[in-house]
Amino acid sequence: MTRGIMWCVCVVAGMAFCGGAAAVEKEKTGDQSHESMIIKTPFGTDKSGREATLYSLVNKNGAVMKVTDYGCIIVTLKMPDREGTLGDIVLGYDKLADYIEETPYFGAVVGRYGNRIANGLFKLEGKTYELATNNDPGGIPCALHGGEAGYDKVIWDAEGIVADDRVGIKFHRISPDGEEGYPGNLDITMWYWLTDANELRIEYAATTDKATPLNLTHHGYFNLEGHDAGTILNHKMMIAADHITPVDKGLIPTGKLMPVENTPFDFRKATAIGKRVNEKNEQIEFGLGYDHNFVLSRWDGKLRLAARVEAPKSGRTMQVFTTEPAIQFYCGNFLDGSNIGKGDHAYEYRTGFCLETQHYPDSPNQSNFPSTILKPGETYSHVTEYRFGVE
Ligand code: GLA
Repeated sequence: MTRGIMWCVCVVAGMAFCGGAAAVEKEKTGDQSHESMIIKTPFGTDKSGREATLYSLVNKNGAVMKVTDYGCIIVTLKMPDREGTLGDIVLGYDKLADYIEETPYFGAVVGRYGNRIANGLFKLEGKTYELATNNDPGGIPCALHGGEAGYDKVIWDAEGIVADDRVGIKFHRISPDGEEGYPGNLDITMWYWLTDANELRIEYAATTDKATPLNLTHHGYFNLEGHDAGTILNHKMMIAADHITPVDKGLIPTGKLMPVENTPFDFRKATAIGKRVNEKNEQIEFGLGYDHNFVLSRWDGKLRLAARVEAPKSGRTMQVFTTEPAIQFYCGNFLDGSNIGKGDHAYEYRTGFCLETQHYPDSPNQSNFPSTILKPGETYSHVTEYRFGVE
């Protein structure tokens, strides 16, 4: 996917930005006059002493994405509002140490298996595999988001790419056989692109030498009014899903599909997130709000519109396109002000939402769900685009 390319990667040790980029950030957007660029700065060390890097990408409109090779975390994403003023619309931390200490997966890649696996167990080709049970909603243990040290907690190999209509980072990692209990050496490549059309495009590819479950996703928390703007309940959400996979108390799918019709889960027409989030409904009670897998209608593996979000004050909009069959809509029910984020802002209850494009939770144990098993000789492929605009 590397295109006819102009290279322009400057390294500025110890500085957040070189002068040019800092100026770009302050300016209004829209005149198409900026040079796109990538700036590398040190971002601290992980627990093993390995150095992490922060890549600051700027597109031709002046939109900014800062991403680190630790967990492939998008630390900052600045997009224009209806006046053209840039605002940072993702929750996160200023420092790597904070991500290492405690994070609800802010902005990270999640794998090897995003979402939950019942009891941390699955059977594959006659063998039972045991995973860490690192989560216990409703007091019921399960495996969540790849385990104790999932893909969000390791440093990836990274390489910056400046192309004619986009800037990006290519990430690569081999997840070794047995890592977090999963079988097979999994060779993963991902590309994060910030295009000149103000899209964040994520491409995932992977191959394995043993059959393995695989469900990669991006765990960005968005607040289109600004990461420190407070509640997201006023955002209007559309999700192109006729069904969800209803869950039990442990947030494990029951195996059935539940029509959204006449329920608080009907987002087929844009509706404020807060309008029905506290309705009396068993699924809402189990999820403590929205924390559910929405089954995308008419899935055929092609890139298609899955969701659209509008922020009334800033006018920012986000459309989510994906090749995946489902999307986990989580509205920040576990945020409680204890994560002190960028600019010392405390992220309170429901001040960020996630739209995690994915296969269904617990698929390795549910034979009626689309398969998540990658076999040797096959290539896993997943594309998701978050397209930003204003209205
Ligand atoms: C996912 C899950 C939630 C929660 C968050 C992280 O989105 O579905 O239940 O665990 O991750 O806090």
